[in-house]
Amino acid sequence: MGQDMHERPKGAAEDWTIAQDWGRYTAAEHAMWDRLFERQGKMLPGRVVPEFMAGLDILRMDKPGIPNFDALSERLMKATGWQVVAVPGLVPDAVFFDHLANRRFVAGRFIRTPDQIDYLEEPDIFHDVFGHVPLLANPVFADYMQAYGQGGLRADGLGAIERLARLYWYTVEFGLIRQDDGLKVYGAGIVSSYGESLFALDDPSPHRLGFDLRRLMRTNYKIDDYQQSYFVIDSFEDLLRQTAQTDLAPLYAELDGQPDLATDALLPGDRVFTRGTQAYAHSRRRP
Ligand code: PHE
Ligand code: FE
Repeated sequence: MGQDMHERPKGAAEDWTIAQDWGRYTAAEHAMWDRLFERQGKMLPGRVVPEFMAGLDILRMDKPGIPNFDALSERLMKATGWQVVAVPGLVPDAVFFDHLANRRFVAGRFIRTPDQIDYLEEPDIFHDVFGHVPLLANPVFADYMQAYGQGGLRADGLGAIERLARLYWYTVEFGLIRQDDGLKVYGAGIVSSYGESLFALDDPSPHRLGFDLRRLMRTNYKIDDYQQSYFVIDSFEDLLRQTAQTDLAPLYAELDGQPDLATDALLPGDRVFTRGTQAYAHSRRRP
């Protein structure tokens, strides 16, 4: 998600893109990708929504080494008309939204180092590309992401960026989805994390609640640890219908001035899949 504190680095174009410079990756960097890919590739089948595995296949992402954005974009363009472009790091909200609205996904080009294998603060290419790009090969999800960009540009003028940021967080980054054989993960922040792919589905700690846009848009989120609550959608079509195909301006107005909800709140109206113990979160609390 974008942020406004950065100045455009010299060398970045007006839309903040830079060349990926694929030829500059070292053997160690390619090996880091392969190691991460192998670990997630083994663990995700059965836990991730099937559309994600299909996307890996359509985009031939199992090819060893860090993907070349030009080759990846060519395949993605054929599938859904999306492209992947490199940026130096976080970009301002308006720039981020504008790229999405034009079916361009912005990705970091650097990869984490071995000591950051399980935790890093800024999204790297493994998170951005392995986590986000496979679902962009799915037509419904691809439309959702474009509409999100358009909705972001609009929310900017309505003072509702934070509401929309929460939607991104609890769907695109940390979303769960209900399938006939149980809950699956689809959010990029989960699928690119070994620890959270296990935690989000199996751990008794977090709440797992049915997707409720009005409720979700009031809920705070954690940026530096596993989530205390996950929201479960019924399908990508349903998500698209409730968000992209709905005028959210009246909802923004209705929510204006309503108090925020804590990351571990439970409300009488919640559709509870799992009532979390919150044991993990409490164990991490500073005395
Ligand atoms: N339809 C929303 C609006 O009226 C925008 C939106 C699109 C939100 C897609 C989320 C996802 O502004
Ligand atoms: Fe992300």
